[in-house]
Amino acid sequence: MERTFIAVKPDGVQRGLVGPILSRFEQKGFKLVGLKLMVVSKELAEKHYAEHAGKPFFPGLVSFITSGPVVALVLEGKGVIAAARAIIGATNPLNAPPGTLRGDFGIDIGRNLIHGSDGPESASREIALWFSPDALADWTPAVSTWIYE
Ligand code: RTP
Ligand code: MG
Repeated sequence: MERTFIAVKPDGVQRGLVGPILSRFEQKGFKLVGLKLMVVSKELAEKHYAEHAGKPFFPGLVSFITSGPVVALVLEGKGVIAAARAIIGATNPLNAPPGTLRGDFGIDIGRNLIHGSDGPESASREIALWFSPDALADWTPAVSTWIYE
């Protein structure tokens, strides 16, 4: 089973979209193993988005992500890294089809509501950056056999 790191960005929290966003992942059948609401420090934001350091949008991205509470979560499931990215949709919400979270809820690239890890290495790195191991729950949902054959 794979794990991925997801964050509802400050725009998603401010707009009251935490519930609808979490619902989409829950309804798909993915399992929540970590969840917290926090205001992100500049240090954590810069580490999280280190791959974008030096790009023109980096300062704005860091100030946006630190501008209010974020809901951080870890999801577990078969193929969850790519599937969560598909559920989230393209980086620019205007290019994200209806049915994706960004397609349904967003317009501007700098207000695209959700982050999702883009591969296995970034998922491991981001989970370790945002959560201590003892904050993640190992559990088996009662419905597991109705989701996996
Ligand atoms: P994220 O990391 O937040 O899940 O988004 P992503 O993988 O879809 O996109 P990425 O290339 O990693 O970019 C990170 C965030 O930076 C902002 N961005 N702005 N103005 C621009 O050209 C631009 N490019 C990226 C977006 O908010 C994007 O989510
Ligand atoms: Mg990214």
